[in-house]
Amino acid sequence: MTPRIVNVAIIGGGLMGREVAAALQRWPSLIDHPVRPQLTAVCDINEAALGWFDQIVSVATKVTDYRQLLDDPSIDVIYVAVRHDLHESIYREVIAAGKGLLAEKPFGIDEAAAKSIVAAVEEHPESFVRCSSEMPFFPGAQMALNYVRSGALGTIIEARSSFLHSSDLDPAKPIGWKRQNKYCGEAGVLNDLGMHTWHVPLRLGWVPDQVFGVFQNIVPERPGPDGSVVECDTWENVVLHSWASHEGVAFPLTTETKRIAPGEKNTWVFEAIGMNGGVRFSTKNPKLVEVFDVVDVPGQGREQVWQHIDSGSQSVWPTVTGPIFEFGFSDSILQMWAAYLAEREGLLGDRFGCVTPHEALETHRIYREARDSVASRLGATD
Ligand SMILES: NC(=O)c1ccc[n+]([C@@H]2O[C@H](COP(=O)([O-])OP(=O)(O)OC[C@H]3O[C@@H](n4cnc5c(N)ncnc54)[C@H](O)[C@@H]3O)[C@@H](O)[C@H]2O)c1
Repeated sequence: MTPRIVNVAIIGGGLMGREVAAALQRWPSLIDHPVRPQLTAVCDINEAALGWFDQIVSVATKVTDYRQLLDDPSIDVIYVAVRHDLHESIYREVIAAGKGLLAEKPFGIDEAAAKSIVAAVEEHPESFVRCSSEMPFFPGAQMALNYVRSGALGTIIEARSSFLHSSDLDPAKPIGWKRQNKYCGEAGVLNDLGMHTWHVPLRLGWVPDQVFGVFQNIVPERPGPDGSVVECDTWENVVLHSWASHEGVAFPLTTETKRIAPGEKNTWVFEAIGMNGGVRFSTKNPKLVEVFDVVDVPGQGREQVWQHIDSGSQSVWPTVTGPIFEFGFSDSILQMWAAYLAEREGLLGDRFGCVTPHEALETHRIYREARDSVASRLGATD
């Protein structure tokens, strides 16, 4: 099959805009994908950010006003990676223009913004919209997900899904937009990292019906752009304890999103344990998947055992990479795009797909209920 050419544009040429642009250049490593994306345009309000894209020859259009991309009939799909306070207006305009949208998380700065984006999606079914969340495309994450789906857990006892880094350990690190509520959103680190912790639980149908939040603001002040001290008002670390259900049985589901988790660098963790089995995966050791079983150990009898499996390189879409080779962050971005563009063509089949608009909206409902749980707890102690 000759792949269909899809022209892609990027709005926001910062950290993630460059990451996605680079990942798309590795498209030939995917085997028999129905689509061939071409990055043809980029927009950033900061002209200096556009210069980086000169090295990608297919990028013919560089603009500082994204509306010029919306008016360009040659553009099929837009990836938007900008500040959270800009999500609602830009996403709604991209959707109304009929372009496909792969939108960065948190899919709006709060629940009201997410609802308004979902309303636009429903008004414009011609625009295929998904939200970014790449970590579940690690092969070990896929193995863990498939393990749970297989029923091997039996009655589930508990599950944990975490995203941990420690970019903010140094209190002298200058404040940026991600550390201010007006740009990041009042959910703080949940807006930054929460999608990473909820994509897999929600896909497993683990929609919590009760949420209790533990919120920490550890560094309340940071140096501003001119060196003077300014308020750093976002939540840094949040643990959510919730009740979810698996096959009709309620179990405790814990998610952790932390910007100050000393020693961690972008660690995505998923673990689930049941009466019959268990599974654990962490990107800290990205090859390793652990599965639990009770087995006959020669000379020892029946023992409870955590067994180790090397997960290799293959994820949702097959690649030319040797199956025993390693997988990394940029591979997960490529796999997420493979899933997005295949699903947009109606050709993803039963493979794992990107976060849907309704799943993204659900995360905002969870964050709000978590914040309400804190308010009611504080109220009760008055
Ligand atoms: N999926 C992930 O793993 C991941 C990782 C980091 C950030 N993110 C998300 O990506 C988004 C962007 O984060 P980032 O780290 O790339 O931010 P960034 O600050 O590095 O880049 C944002 C870029 O947007 C540009 N910009 C601002 N307003 C604009 C406008 N109106 N039109 C065009 N460009 C504009 C800025 O000049 C900047 O270059 C956020 O939603 C963030 O939560 C996702």
